[in-house]
Amino acid sequence: MLKTVFWCESLGNILVTGSSGQIGTDLTEALAKKFGKEKIIGADRKEPKNRNDLGKFEKTDVTRKENLEKLVKENNVETIYDLASLLSATGEKKPDLAWFVNISALKNSLDLARENSIKVFWPSSIAVFGPSTPKQNTPQQTILEPNTMYGITKVSGELLCNYYFKKYNVDVRSIRYPGLISYKTEAGGGTTDYAVEIFYEALKNKKYECFLKEDSTLPMMYMPDAINGTIKLMETDEKNIKTRLGYNISSLSFSPEEIANEIKKHIPEFECSYKPDERQRIADSWPQSIDDSKAREDWNWKPEYDLEKMTVDMLEKLKIKLGVK
Ligand code: SER
Repeated sequence: MLKTVFWCESLGNILVTGSSGQIGTDLTEALAKKFGKEKIIGADRKEPKNRNDLGKFEKTDVTRKENLEKLVKENNVETIYDLASLLSATGEKKPDLAWFVNISALKNSLDLARENSIKVFWPSSIAVFGPSTPKQNTPQQTILEPNTMYGITKVSGELLCNYYFKKYNVDVRSIRYPGLISYKTEAGGGTTDYAVEIFYEALKNKKYECFLKEDSTLPMMYMPDAINGTIKLMETDEKNIKTRLGYNISSLSFSPEEIANEIKKHIPEFECSYKPDERQRIADSWPQSIDDSKAREDWNWKPEYDLEKMTVDMLEKLKIKLGVK
């Protein structure tokens, strides 16, 4: 209780690991806007492409506990958004590295959280689901038998979060993100990356060769919704958090053909072709739509963007970024 009051009234500093990545870039900016950039510390192995005056940045490797500990102690960190992770397609190419990075970064955050009463956010994914999971309206509690290393790290990570909460009372919270679409940072190494690339290629070249089949429907989300949801979950009163595994959240589900048709409404010359590669197997193992009623019930999750609204916004923002007329 005391902890909740403290969080609301005098927020300590916030560390975002993986801050140069796809979620990290948008989240760091949103947190800096909301709480003041002096409260935000970004950490990543890669320099951010666009600093934009987002607060402090440390180039470091958080898979080493001493590096993370130094950041936490030197900056009076009270909250960690632990986003350092390899995604699904890279994970299949480098399974050992995916296991090492995804799990050791989380374990370090949880151990430091336990020792220093830190609140933690950790990103899970629809990749926790696998071929034996119901594909439509996938429930919060269901079969978790992923067949990718990325998915295996996400299931293991969720269980670790739950364990640290139950055993050590660590206030850790998590979301199972669908494919995320942002104009600020290009995705990298994921199976849902096509849904970002297609916008860039449509604007630059008016054509795109998609690495998934035209009818591969997957759950997706526009980044502003994902960021709002993340911050909202972290601000929710602890008594309303009913699971320390990842919460299902959902807004859109579409196939490559459906998003290509939506883009064509704005760029009629746009042509999309399809040449599925090894990422198709990953896409085929994931659900097509997600039941997020638990998140709606427990912490009032509600997305704003549908496919039409997202497409308009993406094209508008990317035109400015790419200098396309
Ligand atoms: N966007 C991620 C991926 O494709 C899913 O969590 O790997």
